[in-house]
Amino acid sequence: MNVLPPTRENLAIVAEELKKGNLAILPTETVYGLAADATNEGSVSRIFQLKGRPANNPLIVHLSSFEQLPQFVAEVPDSVHLLHEAFMPGPLTLVLPKSPKVSSLVTGGLNTVAIRMPDHAACLGVMELGELALAMPSANLFMHLSPTNISMIDPDLADGVFACIDGGACTVGIESTVLDLTGAPTILRLGTVTKENIESVLQMQIGEGGRDQKSPGMYKRHYAPRTSCGIRSNVSPAEAGLVFVEPSNSNQIQMPTEPRAYAQALYASLAEMDTKDVEIFFIQSPPKTPDWAAVWDRLTKATA
Ligand code: TXA
Ligand code: MG
Repeated sequence: MNVLPPTRENLAIVAEELKKGNLAILPTETVYGLAADATNEGSVSRIFQLKGRPANNPLIVHLSSFEQLPQFVAEVPDSVHLLHEAFMPGPLTLVLPKSPKVSSLVTGGLNTVAIRMPDHAACLGVMELGELALAMPSANLFMHLSPTNISMIDPDLADGVFACIDGGACTVGIESTVLDLTGAPTILRLGTVTKENIESVLQMQIGEGGRDQKSPGMYKRHYAPRTSCGIRSNVSPAEAGLVFVEPSNSNQIQMPTEPRAYAQALYASLAEMDTKDVEIFFIQSPPKTPDWAAVWDRLTKATA
């Protein structure tokens, strides 16, 4: 596993390797991503091979600047400019009509393309130095947990790439919000940019759901640890799990009580439970309020 610190020199080297068609693992503010030059079909197809990902599950195209937008998007609705100003770079992905130039390998055969501008200096640096747009799913094997630090990256995945850039722990910790703008705005994947945040910027009500038809990458079970787990209103002192209270045994992990801090810690904590010798663990249920919606989405998928 070739892990490099995010020096300018290393970012330039990685950018060159990506331009040659190699893959790299890069940090973003949400989760680590498995990156390829979005315009190189050979590299994009290697992403699917390496992850074991079905070909109909589309990839997000990551940009460092909105000047790259016309290369990928056929038509830019006005709402994009408002959302750009409010949230980008940041953990929001927009689904838009695709330009004919975008490979259907990237979009899983759909006539739309997902666009995101990550808020991470190392990832932006690689794209700027190489003048690249990156097709970049989370750097996990299909159905596994997305890595939020270097130590969570599967060695088999790391062996398939030129290098991993170590950007430290991801500050957001769960994947970006995916917002479909090809019709009435609809959230396809919940994230830390909330429905309420988007509604206040667009000054309109937006929908949520329609995932199954619109986004083939949404599965009932996803983002899951290897160990069986369930959600409980209370975890007993003898049981293993993620709790809000002071841990009562070494197989319990205390989680933050604020939803953003919880999201940031979630995947690393689930991965840590996999390192413990337990057959099953329980997750103490967080409040059922809108600010916990994205966390609930991931907990439901992890325990499905
Ligand atoms: O935070 C993130 O978005 C991370 C980091 C690395 O940027 N990336 C990520 O990519 O989570 P991935 O491939 O693991 O998830 C992308 C999701 C998939 O569920 C996919 O179905 C959806 O975005 N998606 C991509 N293109 C789409 C499209 N054209 N229409 C609808 N959904 C799309
Ligand atoms: Mg993923």
